Amino acid sequence: MQYRLLRNRKETSVYSGAFRDFLRAVDAQFKPRLSRRGPGIEGKVQDFINAHSIVALNGKAIVGAAVFWPDYKGTKKPYIDFVARRPDMRSRGLGSELLGRAVTHLQSRGQVPLTVSTYSNNRAALALYEKFGFKVAKVEKNARGPGINRLHLIRAAAGRPQPKLHVPIRRMPKQQRANASIGKLRPNIMASGGKGYAFRARRHI
Ligand SMILES: CC(C)(COP(=O)(O)OP(=O)(O)OC[C@H]1O[C@@H](n2cnc3c(N)ncnc32)[C@H](O)[C@@H]1OP(=O)(O)O)[C@@H](O)C(=O)NCCC(=O)NCCS
Repeated sequence: MQYRLLRNRKETSVYSGAFRDFLRAVDAQFKPRLSRRGPGIEGKVQDFINAHSIVALNGKAIVGAAVFWPDYKGTKKPYIDFVARRPDMRSRGLGSELLGRAVTHLQSRGQVPLTVSTYSNNRAALALYEKFGFKVAKVEKNARGPGINRLHLIRAAAGRPQPKLHVPIRRMPKQQRANASIGKLRPNIMASGGKGYAFRARRHI
């Protein structure tokens, strides 16, 4: 297995065909499938070409990728678009390797804090991001249908306090907190100076 950091269009364009094949191989793992979302597979290929990536290569085939934006939509803030690995590569720590390399790369450029978003029914992604110190900073309730929330996660710089929410949200009512295990999360700590709420992903349930 080889890892490659792709930082510009010249480098990403070389791998765009392999990336398209990779997306087709991982499509069914995403819920909903990437091919059924607005921009579809081709939209994600365009993102890949314009963004930066760490790819895991087996020969010429991409078997895993972390796609990220050092300057997301001109905000000068980094954003991790997604991490995925082929289903036949599960249980090998590949997701951790890819995310770890992306985080190290962005941090080495001073690009912190890091943000990512995922859905409350994606246990594997939540476990992965939690492992790397990401914390839920904002919840968009029922964003993907009843009970499936979109979670925005932030990772502070090492040794720095967890950043405040970029979009302040209401403190979660007590009853809602009690019900928050829906979506396979449980309330844990209040974060952001009481302005928001945070969870730890419950793993292996
Ligand atoms: C998310 C994903 C990249 C994780 O890749 P992976 O190779 O399984 O990750 P790792 O093996 O490095 O595991 C990372 C941690 O998550 C845990 N984990 C992995 N799959 C899990 C699951 N289904 N449920 C709970 N925890 C899980 C592992 O135990 C590990 O924790 P540990 O090191 O403390 O034991 C992979 O599941 C994937 O490609 N999913 C489809 C694409 C996707 O949804 N990406 C996220 C979109 S933002």
